[in-house]
Amino acid sequence: MKSTLDTRLIETVDELRAWRSRFAERFGAGKGRLGFVPTMGALHPGHMSLVEAALKECHHVIVSIFVNPLQFGQGEDFNRYPRPFEKDMEFCRAAGVHAVFHPGVEQMYPQGQEGLTRVAPPRHLIRHLCGAFRPGHFEGVATVVCKLFGMVQPQRAYFGEKDYQQLVVIRQMVKDLNLPVTIVPAPTYREPDGLAMSSRNVYLDQGQRRVAPELYKALCFVADQAGSGQMSLSEALAAGREKIAALPGVTLQYLEACDPVSLEPLVSFARPMVILVAAKFGEVRLIDNVIVS
Ligand code: PAJ
Repeated sequence: MKSTLDTRLIETVDELRAWRSRFAERFGAGKGRLGFVPTMGALHPGHMSLVEAALKECHHVIVSIFVNPLQFGQGEDFNRYPRPFEKDMEFCRAAGVHAVFHPGVEQMYPQGQEGLTRVAPPRHLIRHLCGAFRPGHFEGVATVVCKLFGMVQPQRAYFGEKDYQQLVVIRQMVKDLNLPVTIVPAPTYREPDGLAMSSRNVYLDQGQRRVAPELYKALCFVADQAGSGQMSLSEALAAGREKIAALPGVTLQYLEACDPVSLEPLVSFARPMVILVAAKFGEVRLIDNVIVS
């Protein structure tokens, strides 16, 4: 359902509360369906596929744009993370998004980050994969998403399968904390050559951009071995790891196959399963996954 009104820009928590109350009044208690797409901006068609799904299923859609300092570690790209705000607003207007919540850090963390109540995801979900390479990252994600849910109070919230471990962590948080929101997953949106769309792709130089689709190819290679009977899972993963490690200027962080619900690493092929990868192209860290159902 597209709005005929302009996209409303909301910059403070008080304005957001007022906007949320008007939404509730307009649709009647419990009747309106508010869809929420949390982002860090630098929007691309992958983000917009979440927005499209939300617009189809909800009366109103709100997108948040907030580069969350809590989820970046020391030496990571918080300061240089792209912030093309006007372009992002244009994307949202063109799509028919009803509101964009774009708070400053002082709105989200008015008392600073010390002494803040935080959401600690369970260790079994974050001890491996990205969690092993980005200590504190998922705590930062869970904390900001929990705060955003409290502020926006959406009925449905949309998350990409692109960030698979994040999706699992958020689902578990919603279940464990009994948050009244339905988490809706959306498939990974890719460039024509297979590279998963990411705000970080703009950092890639020409040579890195050329080899970046090899990540997806390695994932597909492992997935293809699942039904072929030619290799065991560990052989397929070892071959996939070799392919990535052989790319010039690329450092593999992990290539693993896991249970899609528990994220427990698998020792033999299973269905369903998710194969996940992270690698650094110079300073640029890319992640991707494929789900074998
Ligand atoms: P961000 O990286 O901006 O991603 C926002 C949402 O878009 C996430 O749910 C992510 O999985 C989804 N997304 C990104 N690229 C995608 C693609 N190629 N296809 C489909 N979906 C894609 O993820 C975050 O921000 C933050 O951690 C956040 C949840 C906003 C908390 O700060």
